[in-house]
Amino acid sequence: MPPPEIRVATPEDAEAVSGVLNASYSTLYRGWYEDEMLVRALPAMTRANPALLASGRYFVAELGAKVVACGGWSEERPTGGRIRRQAHLRHFATDPDYINRGCGAAIIGRCLSEARGEGFEEMEVISSLAAEAFYVRHGFRPLAVVQQRMAGADFACVLMRRPLETKR
Ligand SMILES: CC(C)(COP(=O)(O)OP(=O)(O)OC[C@H]1O[C@@H](n2cnc3c(N)ncnc32)[C@H](O)[C@@H]1OP(=O)(O)O)[C@@H](O)C(=O)NCCC(=O)NCCS
Repeated sequence: MPPPEIRVATPEDAEAVSGVLNASYSTLYRGWYEDEMLVRALPAMTRANPALLASGRYFVAELGAKVVACGGWSEERPTGGRIRRQAHLRHFATDPDYINRGCGAAIIGRCLSEARGEGFEEMEVISSLAAEAFYVRHGFRPLAVVQQRMAGADFACVLMRRPLETKR
């Protein structure tokens, strides 16, 4: 099976990215969050974020010419504001038909090395319950369960961090 190709996303990818977010969350969050909460929150949660798409720090994975996964990083915290030398993983998702092929790993690798290269010392992610094990495998440590407000519902998430060791 060919490896996924990773490229920087652009605002033109909005529709494809929203499609991946929707396919991923509506399938892979089942069992982790209540169906009723998902039905209510998914339209807002699965809208591609224009600022991320235009940032040069958001990526898509393509297999053939099809966008099958997405994810990126930012200096801004998802809830707003910045903390010196701390970066944040944002909006990771893989189409459920294409999970377990290394798309998530390839995108996370790109994010970690870019953030490290730009002098950031720590990466943080507010992980869904569904993705906690994925981030643990990529060196993140769970710190606390936090509630994220989405469309009037509180989603339990896991605040996770890992150091970005500098190259010597
Ligand atoms: C978390 C998520 C993005 C991971 O995406 P993914 O593309 O499946 O990630 P990967 O393929 O890199 O890794 C998943 C598994 O595939 C395995 N894998 C990686 N490359 C592989 C390859 N070439 N062949 C076979 N398996 C492979 C990995 O070892 C990993 O297995 P493990 O879980 O037993 O360690 C995806 O599951 C998802 O969209 N989840 C729901 C949305 C979500 O929670 N997003 C995060 C919001 S914070």
